[in-house]
Amino acid sequence: MDDQITGSALVRHLGGIAGDDRVGYAALAGRIRTMLGDGRLAVGTRVPSERELALALGVGRGTVAAAYGELRESGHLARRRGSGTWTALPASTRRSTASPFAPSGAFVVAPDLPVGVIDLAHAAPAAPAEAMVAATQDALAVLPTHLVGPGYELLGLPSLRAAIADRLSAQGLPTAPDEVMVTGGAQHAHALVVRALVRPGDRVLLEQPTYPGAVDLVRHASARPVPVALDRDGAGRTRWDVGSFAAALRESAPALAYLIPDHHNPTGAVMDAETRGAVVAAARRHGVPLVVDDCLRDMWLDEPVGPPLGAWAAVAGEAPVLTIGSLSKTVWGGVRIGWLRGPRAVLRRIATSRASDDIASPVLEQLVATGLLARLDDLLDDRRAAMAARRDHLLAAVHREFPEWTVQRPSGGFSLWIDLGAPRSSALVDTAARHGLHLAAGPRFGTGGAFENFLRLPFTHPVDVLDDAVDRLAAAWGSPAALPVGLGTVV
Ligand SMILES: Cc1ncc(COP(=O)(O)O)c(C=O)c1O
Repeated sequence: MDDQITGSALVRHLGGIAGDDRVGYAALAGRIRTMLGDGRLAVGTRVPSERELALALGVGRGTVAAAYGELRESGHLARRRGSGTWTALPASTRRSTASPFAPSGAFVVAPDLPVGVIDLAHAAPAAPAEAMVAATQDALAVLPTHLVGPGYELLGLPSLRAAIADRLSAQGLPTAPDEVMVTGGAQHAHALVVRALVRPGDRVLLEQPTYPGAVDLVRHASARPVPVALDRDGAGRTRWDVGSFAAALRESAPALAYLIPDHHNPTGAVMDAETRGAVVAAARRHGVPLVVDDCLRDMWLDEPVGPPLGAWAAVAGEAPVLTIGSLSKTVWGGVRIGWLRGPRAVLRRIATSRASDDIASPVLEQLVATGLLARLDDLLDDRRAAMAARRDHLLAAVHREFPEWTVQRPSGGFSLWIDLGAPRSSALVDTAARHGLHLAAGPRFGTGGAFENFLRLPFTHPVDVLDDAVDRLAAAWGSPAALPVGLGTVV
């Protein structure tokens, strides 16, 4: 990585330190270490010179020199001859970026522990079985009318495209059926966009933290992620920093920017209306297409969210907004039907490249999806009630069992994003696996090894399973093996 941060940008992120001459070198080092742990400062960033930072902070150069010295000693900074000082992670901080989709056999369950692994690595609920079976039976009944043709619909079945367009229009994003392409899930929609718009070596702007599948897509395209750290307000709630977003657009000229504005995975945050307008305006100013991942949008648990981010870009043209969605979160991941909504010209370009890929989505599944969309509002009522109860149950258990952890109550989505207060996520996840609990560690949600202080804990399971999971997590947290090497006595 070749990112660098200026003295004034670092001071802005340090928040509140500037001008405070009581700030000692230890506090400064501590703040920088925390920023590395929670992802606000990426690993592999070139930090300002001692003189520049001292000037920006309004402290003596000796304070910065001592802080940098301490951070070098602890392994959080490294000098490279001739090219300055860079952020790093100490060798003792083990990183875990393994995909949660790795086969479950990849981790070991100790023989004397309870059988039955609990999967909290995926934030995806089980299917509403009755509705799935009913929609499949309805689909089988209409299938014969489709069997007379070849079955290849590059952009999807017209009836499904119309149903998706209707739903998006009702949400506040006026959409015609020919602005919709049916895909094999939201991840497939995103992959199609990346394939059409991103070349090797291009940059792609991502939120930090973000959905791991998005980071994987960028890497597989041999492109370079540009992480833009999410911010927190005074009350600790996650928010988007428009200034950082616009600066990253200007400075790195990415091929596209990917955002999850509604029930962001993993934080659960929702972008406010003013920020939506500013983000779309900045993307248009810099000519950068936005990929808006709305697959968690319908999963509000307290109150409905406002219009989709795409609604702020009603005028198609340069800097298109491409909205992706799917039935994976609202109904079931196993349906494998999603969509891409965007300007017709962009869809045509993407369809051309798809013609040499999987060609089209399966007809039967599209018919099932059409039936599920017709039932979706009823299904969502049930799902929201179940998920809100599970969220509150897990939140209460976490507050009770882990008082040292910090967590906000998400207004939607499927998971808690927990600040462990120490860089122990990977070690905890490794240990939890031995207790039969499968989790995804914080660094999986960022780039450069960030978020070692964080853990995503989904509440998608019934409460008795969540209780069992919390017991296993408590056993893992209390185990000396869950301490990173170098912290505490590990025998
Ligand atoms: C934000 C986000 N985008 C995309 C996906 C993948 O969705 P799909 O199963 O529709 O491909 C997920 C699944 O976890 C997700 O959380």
